[in-house]
Amino acid sequence: MELLKALKWRYATKRMTGEKLDQHLVDQIVEAARLAPTSAGVQPFHIFVISNPELKEKISPIAFNQPQITESSHLLVFTAWDKMDPERIQAIYDYTNKERGLPLDKTADVVAGLNSLFSTFTEEQQHHHASKQAHIGFGMAIAAAAELGVDATPMEGFDKNQLDELLDLKSKGLMSCTLLALGRRQPEGDWLSILKKVRLPTEKFITEIK
Ligand SMILES: Cc1cc2nc3c(=O)[nH]c(=O)nc-3n(C[C@H](O)[C@H](O)[C@H](O)COP(=O)(O)O)c2cc1C
Repeated sequence: MELLKALKWRYATKRMTGEKLDQHLVDQIVEAARLAPTSAGVQPFHIFVISNPELKEKISPIAFNQPQITESSHLLVFTAWDKMDPERIQAIYDYTNKERGLPLDKTADVVAGLNSLFSTFTEEQQHHHASKQAHIGFGMAIAAAAELGVDATPMEGFDKNQLDELLDLKSKGLMSCTLLALGRRQPEGDWLSILKKVRLPTEKFITEIK
């Protein structure tokens, strides 16, 4: 299966060449994240696609000077809603109903149910729920990059508060979750490039119940 071959090829690239990727490759990776399924279809996350070198320079110390930040072609910042806000939930359902040519009140019961559920969550739990959805898109983007032969480093090694401040996320009702550096691998100087990919053996990874 081609996808499995691609997933074996990919690795969390530590050094990149700085080469600029063709825009259509970046667009397809973002599209894979946009097509991710989310709980109740709410899509409570947003991606910043950063190719601006000055901004990447500013992000670098926030991500502990990991070289992939500035050596990447594009840096995707996955952010999630700070809370499961009823207004934003309503807006996504209104949009979906309009796109489907359905009356706006078609999903009133579903929206009421979601709002009732999230009202029992703390704000932190609501953000946690949103960030779990962002992680689904993140995984899709990682797989899409691999399938396109684009190197990608998933990253959570950064100071979220500092990045939120730099990107002014609070005013947008967002909080940063993860980074995905996209570019071309530079195997020389990358200690990880020659090491075997190691995962738990399947028999330890799954429990089969027939
Ligand atoms: C959520 C997440 C956060 C990660 N954070 C970093 C990071 O900050 N820097 C880094 O170099 N790698 C990071 N990694 C890469 C992992 O260490 C790597 O994916 C894992 O060891 C498996 O290796 P492989 O991706 O090369 O197969 C992260 C991966 C994930 C999924």
